[in-house]
Amino acid sequence: MKLLNSKIVFIMMIGFVLVLAACGKQNSNNGSSKDKVLNVGTEATFAPFEYQQKGKIVGFDVDLLNAVAKQAGYKISIKNTGWDAMLAGLQNKELDVGMAGITINDERKKSYDFSNPYFESKSMIVFKKGTNIKTAKDLIGKKVGVQNGTTGQFTAESILGKNSNKISKYETSALCFTALKSGDVDAVVTDNAVALQYVKNNPNSNLETVTDKSFKSEYYGIAFPKNSDLKAKFDKALTKVMDNGEYAKIYKKWFNKQPDVDVLKN
Ligand code: ARG
Repeated sequence: MKLLNSKIVFIMMIGFVLVLAACGKQNSNNGSSKDKVLNVGTEATFAPFEYQQKGKIVGFDVDLLNAVAKQAGYKISIKNTGWDAMLAGLQNKELDVGMAGITINDERKKSYDFSNPYFESKSMIVFKKGTNIKTAKDLIGKKVGVQNGTTGQFTAESILGKNSNKISKYETSALCFTALKSGDVDAVVTDNAVALQYVKNNPNSNLETVTDKSFKSEYYGIAFPKNSDLKAKFDKALTKVMDNGEYAKIYKKWFNKQPDVDVLKN
């Protein structure tokens, strides 16, 4: 009799624990935003911001987004969707976030929401040593490679004309550099940090860079679908990550110097 009792108590206890576990699981799934995983799209051939290493997407953007998302109470799942699919995915709300060194501008603001700026950038020209390029004007008459739909394209168009047949548009950032190496184009216009990183990583390609006074500062933002409630949460979290030193730590890791966060607070 006693044995039977303790068996029943034991079974009841197990049942109780199982019910508790089930409740807990349900809570974490529909409850707070804490465990929500956000779908992030990127174009991962844009070192040092996002690129593939041993099958993983890594880079400054990835580290920063992880820190900001964590601060806001989210997890992220980042996929190399490509540039166009990333933008389309934000527009049809299949993606929650776009993180790809995306420059904030008025045209894009019509279709997406952006976080506050997290990085300052400018266009830069990359070319093989010996090519006569000293300023932007020297691009005239040369073949120029750009990533389609990026500010590199817009900069090249401002110099060569919008419909210039001298501009070759590539789907990824990496393909621009492949074209430069093979001689399909004479120069590439891209973001300065990406240009400098590429030149540094490819010392045998004998490349050089120049900027031009006419190239204006651009600012990267985290992109969201229009009217996403993530914008406010991520802005708050980004400020926190900048104030608590995490941003400087990540910046130091990828750029080996201290950031000037004041230029971002315009
Ligand atoms: N900052 C530029 C733009 O927004 C280029 C971004 C390209 N990013 C990339 N991951 N390929 O147009």
